[in-house]
Amino acid sequence: MAEPSFLADTRAGYDAIAAEYIENFRGEFESKTLGLAMLGAFAAYVRADGGGRVLDVGSGPGWVTAHLAGLGLEVSGVDLSPEMVARARREHPGVRFEEGSMTALDVADGALGGVSAWYSLIHIAPEAVPGVLAEFYRVLAPGGRLLLGFQVGEEPSRYAEAFGHRVSLVFHRLLPGRVAGQLRAAGFDVEARLEREAVLGEVTPQAYLLARKPVSA
Ligand SMILES: C[S@@+](CC[C@H](N)C(=O)[O-])C[C@H]1O[C@@H](n2cnc3c(N)ncnc32)[C@H](O)[C@@H]1O
Repeated sequence: MAEPSFLADTRAGYDAIAAEYIENFRGEFESKTLGLAMLGAFAAYVRADGGGRVLDVGSGPGWVTAHLAGLGLEVSGVDLSPEMVARARREHPGVRFEEGSMTALDVADGALGGVSAWYSLIHIAPEAVPGVLAEFYRVLAPGGRLLLGFQVGEEPSRYAEAFGHRVSLVFHRLLPGRVAGQLRAAGFDVEARLEREAVLGEVTPQAYLLARKPVSA
C-alpha cells in the first residue's frame, strides 16, 4: 500500500530541519517541570510492573529516550526521520535508535512494557490516530503503559517554511478528552490526564495522558 502523504511530508520536513531543531530546542523539555513529572511517573509505573522493553516513538534527537534510560528503563527510540535517527545515535551512543513509523511498528505483539509518544502523535493525520493507538495497544504487553504528550487545541499549525527550509509540516493540536475517548475505544484504561497552562513562550496549553493496556487483555 502506498505511504500516506502526511508521512512523507513529515519525514522530509524533519530531515530538512533536524540540525536547527536540535540547536533551538536543546534542553527545552527539561525546563517543563510537569512534563518531567509525568515522564518520571511513567518510568516509575513501568519499573514497578517489572520493567520490560520500552519504545520511545517519535524519539527525534533522543533527549527524552536518554532521559527515560537514565530513569532505569530498557528503552530504545524509533523515528520517521533518518536524519533525526542519525543525530540521536551520534548524541546517545549507549541508546538504540531505529527508523520506523508509529503507524506500523516493527515490534511483535505484546512485546513491550511501555510506549512513550512525546510530542509525536501531533504529526499523525486525525483520521489515522485511531490506527496508531491500536498499534500501541498491539505492541504492549497486558498491563503495559502508554504515555502521550501534546499541545492542546483544535486548529493545526501548518508550516511551509521552517528555519529557512521549505517544508510541509503540520502540528495537530489535540483535545485531551477526545484523545482519552479514542484511547478507551482502542481498549486502554486511561489512568491519568494532566492539562497545564502554557509556560515559557508556549502558545497553547499542554496535556499528558497515561494509559494502560488492561492486565486481563
Ligand atoms: C516534535 S518532535 C519530538 C521529538 C521528541 N519526542 C522530543 O520530544 O524531543 C516530533 C518527532 O516525531 C517524529 N515523527 C513524526 N511522525 C512520526 C511517525 N509516524 N513515526 C515515528 N516518528 C514520527 C518526527 O520525525 C520528529 O522527530
